[in-house]
Amino acid sequence: MRNFTYKNPTKILFGENQIQNLENEIPRDAKVLILYGGGSIKKNGVYDQVKEALKNHTTEEFGGIPANPEYAVLVEALKCIKEKEITYLLAVGGGSVIDGTKFLAAAALYPGEPWEILTKHVRTLEGQALPFASVLTLPATGSEMNSGYVISRRETKQKLSSGGPGLFPQFSILDPEVIRSIPRRQLINGLTDSYMHVMEQYITYPVGAMLQDRFAESILQTLQELAPKILAEEFDLVAAGDFMWCCTMALNGLIQQGVPGDWAVHAMGHELTAYFGIDHAVTLAIIAPSHYKYNLESKKEKLAQYAERAWGIKDGNTEEKALQGIQKMEEFFHSLGIKTKLSEHTPGFAGTAEKVEANFTNRGLLGIGEYKSLTPSDAKAIVEMSY
Ligand code: NZQ
Ligand code: ZN
Repeated sequence: MRNFTYKNPTKILFGENQIQNLENEIPRDAKVLILYGGGSIKKNGVYDQVKEALKNHTTEEFGGIPANPEYAVLVEALKCIKEKEITYLLAVGGGSVIDGTKFLAAAALYPGEPWEILTKHVRTLEGQALPFASVLTLPATGSEMNSGYVISRRETKQKLSSGGPGLFPQFSILDPEVIRSIPRRQLINGLTDSYMHVMEQYITYPVGAMLQDRFAESILQTLQELAPKILAEEFDLVAAGDFMWCCTMALNGLIQQGVPGDWAVHAMGHELTAYFGIDHAVTLAIIAPSHYKYNLESKKEKLAQYAERAWGIKDGNTEEKALQGIQKMEEFFHSLGIKTKLSEHTPGFAGTAEKVEANFTNRGLLGIGEYKSLTPSDAKAIVEMSY
């Protein structure tokens, strides 16, 4: 295992009725901005619970943060933060609302043009952001317990990420009851995104991190086992809680300590969302099979281990097992109802690979993956294999 320093300051309040504890967790003298998305929280009762818990606080609201949080909308929220002299942000939503809130927490104290934070990949250090917290309504991204975020800008067709140790939520509330109202499409996205978060940190090369590997495998196996229960007609609160915790654990930094990380699937996937608006999780299911096949030689040991331990595959040599592992992963995505070819999502797929190559070159993304060796032309080949 490699050396590491691990600090995750986010406090988690897990379980039913935890939303009422907002009252005690947010300082009474704070001027709170409640941020939310397109309105699901007003239909499922979460908004009412939040308002009730904060009835003795001074609150303002900003709604309308869209999926793949849009820069132009966040600029409006930033104006509101400044005009109303907000001192505390509360995200009530999924990854998009939480990510948007992280960006705003950083932008509120940033001296320059806010978009620069993303184009220059400015890291936000401790003390360089407004304090913020979240009430998670959609398990998927892990944003509720990590310090990264991704922002989209329609005007320039860009989807860029940043983060830093100053951007961990102070606390996050994880009440699995909120899962009851999530549409099937978003449940599928949550299962897939969290699964791929683990894969990005696990399908690299062995470094002797036995415990990290088993953490990763346990999350993958739990998600595999939970998927039918989460997608069943009848809501299962116990399964919902396990699912929520899997998504958080998949990307709260724990399983990445001491091991190499890949993240090339996400880098390519973000491009597909930026060009075509394809849901984040779906882009990962499109890219991952090709990425693993293209990089079979360097990833085959971990892929074979994945096949053995997550799917019980016993037959074949390392390479054969690795290929079976990729197939099992793709079958798992199909079992969720995801189509794993780009052409199944957009008729306008021709030229995408060249566009990814050009964008990576322009952005200086010249070496990605765990070896930082995948060039823009490798990305082009992988995206082409995903058509
Ligand atoms: O906007 P509302 O009305 O709230 O509806 C949302 C939205 O339409 C709806 N929803 C959320 N909770 C619900 C609900 N509907 C009914 N009941 C509920 N309880 O679901 C839709 C999608 O929400 P969104 O927040 O966009 O989904 P998700 O959590 O998958 O977030 C995706 C964004 O996170 C980024 C993605 O790139 C994408 O922009 N990611 C963030 C990461 C991070 N910060 O660590 C890592 C990820 O890899 C990812 O890149
Ligand atoms: Zn993701």
